[in-house]
Amino acid sequence: MKKISVIGAGTMGLGIAQLAASNNYDVVLVDKEEKVLKEAKEKIEKILLRLVNKNKIDNHSFENIFNKITFTTSLEEIKDSVLVVEAIVEDLEIKKNIFKQIESLVSKGCVLATNTSSLSVTSIASSCNFSNRVIGIHFFNPAPIMPLVEIIAAIQTDEKVLEKSIKIIKGFGKTVVLAKDTPGFIVNRVARPFYGEAIRIVEENIASVATIDWAMKELGGFRMGPFELMDFIGNDVNYAVTESVFKAFFYDPRYKPSFTQKRMCEAGYLGRKTKKGYYDYSKEKSDIIKDEMLGQEIFWRILVMLINEAADAFFLKIASKEDIDLAMTKGVNYPKGLLQWADEIGLDKVLNKLESLQKEYGEDRYRPSPILRNLIKQDKNFY
Ligand code: NAI
Repeated sequence: MKKISVIGAGTMGLGIAQLAASNNYDVVLVDKEEKVLKEAKEKIEKILLRLVNKNKIDNHSFENIFNKITFTTSLEEIKDSVLVVEAIVEDLEIKKNIFKQIESLVSKGCVLATNTSSLSVTSIASSCNFSNRVIGIHFFNPAPIMPLVEIIAAIQTDEKVLEKSIKIIKGFGKTVVLAKDTPGFIVNRVARPFYGEAIRIVEENIASVATIDWAMKELGGFRMGPFELMDFIGNDVNYAVTESVFKAFFYDPRYKPSFTQKRMCEAGYLGRKTKKGYYDYSKEKSDIIKDEMLGQEIFWRILVMLINEAADAFFLKIASKEDIDLAMTKGVNYPKGLLQWADEIGLDKVLNKLESLQKEYGEDRYRPSPILRNLIKQDKNFY
C-alpha cells in the first residue's frame, strides 16, 4: 500500500491526514508533541464518527480509514512514503530545518511538499540537496471538505514532480490550480482587498461592519461578509497573512495592513474563537443600515478592487485566467470568477471606478492593473 506522511498534526495536518487515509493511502501523521497527536487522533475519530452518523460512510469505512493513520512523534516512520506533506508552524527557518531532516529519511522518488500559505516554496526547497523534488501543495481549511488545492512549483521543481503531485491531488477528487511561487499564491493574494478595502470603508466611517457584511452578501452574493469571515478565520491569522504578504511584496502599498486589524489583535479580539472580534458574539447584530444606494457603493468599491487584483495576477502570469477564477470560486466560495465578472460588467466601468478612486485618494493602492487599459484599447475582454 502506498504511504503518505504528514508532518504537523495541527488544524491542517490532521485534515490532510484524514483526506489521504480516506483515499486509501497509509498515512503517517507526525508531530513533535504527544499531546497534539492525542488530540488529533480524538478529533479525527470524532469527525469520522459524525460522517457515520450522517450515513456518509459506513462502520467498515470508518475502521478502515481510522486504522490507516499512524500517529507518531518519530520522524523516522516517514520512510517509504510516496509523498510527504509538511504542515508545521509557518516559520521559514523551522521549515527549512525539517525539510533537511525529511530529505535524509525518504527515498529519491518521494515528493516533498509544503503546505505553506505565505512563505517562498523556492526558499524552502533550497534547504534540500535535491531541491527539484520540493513543491508547494496548498490545501484550504478544512482540507477534507474544501475542493481547491493550489499547487506551486518552485523554480527548482522538476516537471515530473509537478505532474506526480497533480495526479495524487486530483486522485483525492480535488480541483487543482497551478500558481507561480509568489506571495499569497492565488487566493491569499487576490482576496486581500475583500478584507482590506472593507476595513478601509469602516475607517472612513462610510458604513458599519454589519452594513458592509449585509451589502456584500445581499447585493454582492458573497456567502459571508468580510467581517464575519475575518472573525471566522481569526483576526490574528488574517493579520499575519496580510502582514506577511505586504512584506513579501516589498511593501507595495496595495497590500498595506490596517491599524484597525492590528489593534483587534493587540486587544485579543480575535473573532469567534475569543467570542469577540468585529462582532460581539454575546449580543445580537444591530446597526445594519439597509440602504440600497450605500450598499451598492460599498459592494462596487470592494468588487473593483478584487477584480483589479485578479487582473494583475493574470497580467503578471501568476496563473491562467481560468485558474484564477476557479481558485476564488472553489477556494473562498466567491459567487463568480472575478475575471468573468469583470467581462460581464465591462472593463471600462471597472477601470473608470479604479481611476476615480485613485484620483480621489491619490494613493497607489488604487492603481489599475495595466492589463485593464491594454484590453480596453484592443477592444477585448478577459475571455
Ligand atoms: P497549527 O499550529 O495548528 O499546527 C502546527 C503543528 O505543527 C503543531 O501541532 C506543532 O506541534 C507542529 N510542529 C511544529 N514544529 C514541528 C516539528 N519540527 N516537527 C513536528 N511537528 C511540528 O498550524 P496550522 O494552522 O495547521 O498550519 C500549518 C501550516 O499550514 C502552516 O504553514 C500554515 O501557514 C499552513 N496553512 C494553514 C491554513 C489554516 O487555515 N490554518 C490554511 C492553509 C495552510
